Amino acid sequence: MAKLLYIKASPRGRHSYSVAAADTFVRAYKAKNPDDRVVELDLFNTKLPKFDGFALQAKYSIMGGQQHTHDEKAAWEAVEKVINEFKSFDKYIFAVPMWNFSIPYQLKHYIDVIVQPSYMFSFSPDKGYTGLVTGKPVFISYARGGAYGPGTGAEAYDFQSRYLEHILRFIGFTDIRTLITEPTLQQGPEAAEKNKSRSILKAEEMAAKF
Ligand SMILES: Cc1cc2nc3c(=O)[nH]c(=O)nc-3n(C[C@H](O)[C@H](O)[C@H](O)COP(=O)(O)O)c2cc1C
Repeated sequence: MAKLLYIKASPRGRHSYSVAAADTFVRAYKAKNPDDRVVELDLFNTKLPKFDGFALQAKYSIMGGQQHTHDEKAAWEAVEKVINEFKSFDKYIFAVPMWNFSIPYQLKHYIDVIVQPSYMFSFSPDKGYTGLVTGKPVFISYARGGAYGPGTGAEAYDFQSRYLEHILRFIGFTDIRTLITEPTLQQGPEAAEKNKSRSILKAEEMAAKF
């Protein structure tokens, strides 16, 4: 029985295009793999630990090879809890809107909490950085108001997929499957509905092979 973590980074509920495709993906996956368990992490309804003060110092202590002080250790426990929860899954699903050409702040906050040295990546002077989350597939459903795909001339503005996939590869992911719903605004509601329907069909197809 595999455990899947479904991370929602859109707060738009039933209005969200990234969630519509990811929900379809999850439903299709569950239909095919009824014994597997999907746990939802709705980032806009989750209280993440603040990443400042002693928690931040604790990160620098790890990077400097120093022991945590009493205060750092206490602050670090909350961070460790989120990391351990993330790492306990076998497969991952993300629903991610484009916000200001990048990802929503709640997802960036989550990334800043979980991407930690010695948990998600290691460093050595001879080997450089090594990702520690290996052998796990990830499916990402993106939505964008405009269009940024190949041939649009706006490819360079896409810091959403480029950033998210960069950080996922940095921590060890190699099997990254993506589905883009775009544009959801730029060409009006009719085009948006068409793009949504296309993504929903594609999500079902992709779930069958996940
Ligand atoms: C705060 C905010 C910033 C946005 N910035 C961009 C942007 O830079 N480029 C773009 O194409 N669309 C942008 N949009 C539009 C969203 O990408 C679009 O509505 C998309 O469908 C959101 O995903 P969702 O439907 O899954 O919530 C923005 C929307 C919001 C709320």
